[in-house]
Amino acid sequence: MLSNLFDGLSMKKILVTGGAGYIGSHTCKALSKAGMEPIVFDNLVLGHQWAVKWGGLEVGDLLDRDRIVDVAKKVRPEGVIHFAGHSCVGESVSDPAKYWRNNVAGTINLLDALVYINSPPVVFSSSCTVYGITNVDLISENVAVEPINPYGETKRAVEIMLKDYEVAADLRHIVLRYFNAAGSDADAEIGESHNPETHLIPLAIASAAGDMKALKIFGTDYSTADGTCVRDYIHVTDLADAHVRALNYLLDGGDSNLFNLGAGVGYSVREVVDAVGRIVGSPVPTEPSVRRPGDPTRLVADTGHAREILHWKPVNSDLDNIVATAWRWYQMRKQVLSWPGLGADKLDVS
Ligand code: UFG
Repeated sequence: MLSNLFDGLSMKKILVTGGAGYIGSHTCKALSKAGMEPIVFDNLVLGHQWAVKWGGLEVGDLLDRDRIVDVAKKVRPEGVIHFAGHSCVGESVSDPAKYWRNNVAGTINLLDALVYINSPPVVFSSSCTVYGITNVDLISENVAVEPINPYGETKRAVEIMLKDYEVAADLRHIVLRYFNAAGSDADAEIGESHNPETHLIPLAIASAAGDMKALKIFGTDYSTADGTCVRDYIHVTDLADAHVRALNYLLDGGDSNLFNLGAGVGYSVREVVDAVGRIVGSPVPTEPSVRRPGDPTRLVADTGHAREILHWKPVNSDLDNIVATAWRWYQMRKQVLSWPGLGADKLDVS
C-alpha cells in the first residue's frame, strides 16, 4: 500500500561517471538535494569510496565496454553526467596514450551504452584548457578552441564526438567548460583529495600549515601585474549547482548547448597565496620557480551565457570563501579520514 504510494514519486535516476571524484561527489550531493538519485559509476582509481554518500555505487571502468553497457541497462538513467577521466595537463604531455584511452576511448564506450538505452541526455565536464592561449580578457564560448596539450585535445575530441552522436542517435548534451575548480563543501563532508596533489590552493594551505616546505611559484615573469599567472577560481559548489541546472535544462527538453563556468574574476598566484596566508593565519612560505610547461598567462571566463540560459550565477566563489572552505576541509580530512597523505613526506613536492 505504502509502496504504491511512493511508486508515483520515484526519484529520477542520474548516472554519474566519476561521481566518486572531487567535482563529481559535490554534484551528487547537489543532485540529491534537488530530489534526484545519483548512481555513481567509478573505477575508484582517482575517486574515493568515502565520497559516495548520496546514492549507489557501481564500481567499473569505462574501458570495460560490457560493464558500462550492463550498468546502463540495469540503471536506465533519465540523465547522465560524465566526469570520469584524467585531468592533469603535465601528465597528459608525458603520457598522452593514457589520456586518449581513458578520456576518449572510455567515452565512446559510455556513449554507445547510452545509445542502447535510447540516448538519455548527457552533461559533459570539459575544461577551459580547450581554449589554449588566448589574448582576450574574458573568454566567451565564441573564442576559438585551440588546445595546447593532449589533455585539452581529448576534451575537444569528446565535444566533437558528442555532436556526432547527436546527429546519429539524438543524444542531446551540454558541455561545461570549467575554469579552476576550487574550495570544498560548506559542511566539510567531502572535498578535494588528489594524490598526488598538484593544485595551487591545497598546496598553499599545506605549506601555510607547515605540512609542506615552501610552495613553488611557477613563473614570476608573466606579463601580469605581479608577474604570476592569473586564473578564474570557481567554487566547486557553484559548479555542482551548474550541473544540476544543465541537467534540468536537458530533462525539460532543452537543446544541446555549451557553457563556460567560472567566477568571471581573475586572481594571480600571489593573490591566492596571500589569501591563504590570511585565512590560515600563517603566511605561506614561497619560493620562485621556473614556469610550468603548458601554463597560459591568463584564463578568466565570460560567464554571461550560463547566467542567461541556465539562470546560474556563482554565489560561493568569493576567493576568501573558496580558501576558507578548502582550509576547513583540509583540517577535517586529517581528523575524519586519518588521511596519511597529508604528511610532509607525501605532500613535499619540492
Ligand atoms: N601553481 C604554482 N605552484 C604550484 C601549483 C600551481 O605556482 O605548486 C600555479 C600554476 O602555475 C597556475 C596556477 O597556480 O598558474 C593554478 O594552477 P593549478 O595547478 O591549481 O590549476 P591549473 O590552472 O593548472 O589547472 C586546473 C585543472 C585543469 C584545468 C585547468 C583549467 O587542474 O584540469 O585548471 O584552467 F584544465
